[in-house]
Amino acid sequence: MENDLAYVLFTEEQLRQRVSEMGRAITEKYAGTEPVFVGVLKGSFVFMADLVRAVDLRCSVDFMAVSSYGSGTVSSGAVEITKDLSQDIAGRHVVIVEDILDSGRTLSYLVGYLQNRKPASIAIYTLLDKPDRRAAEVILEMSGFVIPDEFVVGYGLDYAERYRNLPYIGVLKPEIYQ
Ligand code: IMP
Ligand code: MG
Repeated sequence: MENDLAYVLFTEEQLRQRVSEMGRAITEKYAGTEPVFVGVLKGSFVFMADLVRAVDLRCSVDFMAVSSYGSGTVSSGAVEITKDLSQDIAGRHVVIVEDILDSGRTLSYLVGYLQNRKPASIAIYTLLDKPDRRAAEVILEMSGFVIPDEFVVGYGLDYAERYRNLPYIGVLKPEIYQ
C-alpha cells in the first residue's frame, strides 16, 4: 500500500497529538452536558474511535451513512442518506464527526437534515479541511488540519474503498487514480 503513496502528509504521532487536542476542546466546550457524537460513515470511523476516547464526558455515539453520488475523487453534489441515526437527538447537543470537508455539500445537506429534529445545538468537527474546493457554505467548529487540494487516503479515508486501514494520512500518487 505504501508504494501507492506520493508522500505521508500526517504521521501517526501528528494525528494522535491533534486528535487529543480536539478531544480536550470538546471536553471543555461540552462540560456539564451529555452530547451525542454523530460520525459520518464510512470515512470517519477511525477518527471517531480516537476522538471519543480523547473526550472525558458522558456521551453517546451514533453513525449516519451518506452517499454523495459519483465515484472517483470528485463528489457530485446530490446526497442520499443510506443509514439514519438510531436515537432521538431532540434537545441534545450534536457533535458531527467527519473525516474531511471538501466541497461541503455532504455536511451542508446533513446539517439541514438534522436541524429538523430540533437538537439543542449542532457543531461540526472535521479532521481535515480542504477549503480550496468549497462549493456549499458550512460553519466548522474545529478542524484538525487544513490541507491543500490533493487527494488523501488513510486513517479512515479511502480511494475506491482501499487504504482506510493505513494508520497515517498520505497523498496518493496521481497515477493511481488517473
Ligand atoms: P464533500 O461533500 O465534497 O465535502 O465531500 C466530502 C466527502 O468526500 C468526504 O467525507 C470524503 O468521503 C470524500 N473526500 C473528499 N476529499 C477526499 C480525499 O482527499 N480523500 C478521500 N476522500 C475524500
Ligand atoms: Mg466521508
